[in-house]
Amino acid sequence: MNKFKKSQELFDEELKYLPGGTTSNARLWHNVCPTDMPCAIFAKKAKGAYLWDVDNNKYIDYRLGYGPIILGHAYPKVLNAVKKVMKDGEVFALNNELELKLAKKINKAVKCAEMIRYANSGTEATMTAVRVARAFTKKDKILKFEGHYHGHHDYVLFSLAKHIKSDLGKKPINASLGIPNSIRNLVFAEEWNDFDNVEKTIKRHHKEIACIICEPVTGNSAVIPPEPGFLNHLRELCNKYNIVLIFDEVKTGFRLSLGGAQEIYNVKPDLATFAKALGNGFPIALVAGKKEIMELIGTGRDHVIHGGTYSGNPISMAAANSVIDELQRKEVFESMDIYGRKLMKGMRETYDDNDVDGIVQGFPTMFQTMFTRRDKITNCRAGKSCDFNYFALLQGELARNGIMIDEDPEEAIYISYSHKQHDLNKTLQIFENAVKKIKKVKKTLITLK
Ligand SMILES: Cc1ncc(COP(=O)(O)O)c(C=O)c1O
Repeated sequence: MNKFKKSQELFDEELKYLPGGTTSNARLWHNVCPTDMPCAIFAKKAKGAYLWDVDNNKYIDYRLGYGPIILGHAYPKVLNAVKKVMKDGEVFALNNELELKLAKKINKAVKCAEMIRYANSGTEATMTAVRVARAFTKKDKILKFEGHYHGHHDYVLFSLAKHIKSDLGKKPINASLGIPNSIRNLVFAEEWNDFDNVEKTIKRHHKEIACIICEPVTGNSAVIPPEPGFLNHLRELCNKYNIVLIFDEVKTGFRLSLGGAQEIYNVKPDLATFAKALGNGFPIALVAGKKEIMELIGTGRDHVIHGGTYSGNPISMAAANSVIDELQRKEVFESMDIYGRKLMKGMRETYDDNDVDGIVQGFPTMFQTMFTRRDKITNCRAGKSCDFNYFALLQGELARNGIMIDEDPEEAIYISYSHKQHDLNKTLQIFENAVKKIKKVKKTLITLK
């Protein structure tokens, strides 16, 4: 019996009307397509830790919409906060008190957030942050890292995980058609955690480099934390050479901790961008940072343009206020922490018991598993040595049995506050069965050195 019949039919029909048969390229499931599963699963509804597709398959959801769902799907407190403001209108394109209330909370929670400007998506936020950095330093070039994703605007869409190969040269790689070559000339793409080469490039080109932008914990080439001292190294280089340090915390913000990766690593960027978990599913993003730099966005001096019809809309503001209130309850992060740790440990034990060279790396609320003989993966190129076929088998087996992780091995596994002990037990049981089953069809890992 085809468990995904309706999704398959809808996908075939959608191909006629929506290019690629989807609304975001990242939603196409390349690894499992075209076996027994469709290239895109159609969701029907979600509640708490669970998601149902249109064929009524129920999953424990570890994709969580690519990370926004930190509290759980359709989380009652957030929905109630939204309902309360919705009855008084949707968007006014005027200031509202909720945006001020939220700014005060963020100012308290996030180290670098002296001032805040709201937007609606991570893409908008990073676009604005880079523009502000350019305006502030009066320099044009940016330094980013291979495998780091900062949204789909032209400034940053280079050298994404899927384009990186272990033997590539150092030139940034356009990730899309339509990006002018002249923009590529404004980008340096370095390897994550490569202390020496970043320093060399900065020393050589600092007069042209406006900002270093990075995911302080990489969440777009699996999950790759910074090596000890690496974020400090970036901080020092930026201080020395008048370069703006931007942490793109779209994935890590309000997810790794209330204060984001900058709190965990105790490194303060000049600017930071947030989105995803802040809205628990409602569209909101923001740029936060040093007053001296952020004030350039205002209209008082020669200024940076930023706007947005929906920026600061009361619905997203109400959602985000309520998300922060909830995340401030100590129990919320504690519970996610316990769940995530146990899941990571259980997965590692299953690999050990079954002689599988699998690693699990990251944080309890955001981690990924990789198949490699290395102890850890420290950059995107090294990640290319992993066995992605094994990952595809695992993901397909889990999905067929009600566990939803993303089919893209460069994504992350996410935990929400709605994941509870019985979900953990079930997940680990299904996980163990999947690993045992794969062992029968695939005896060895194909890993490169
Ligand atoms: C680190 C990071 N920055 C920016 C973005 C872009 O965010 P959005 O999809 O909301 O435009 C993403 C999206 O996944 C992201 O992971």
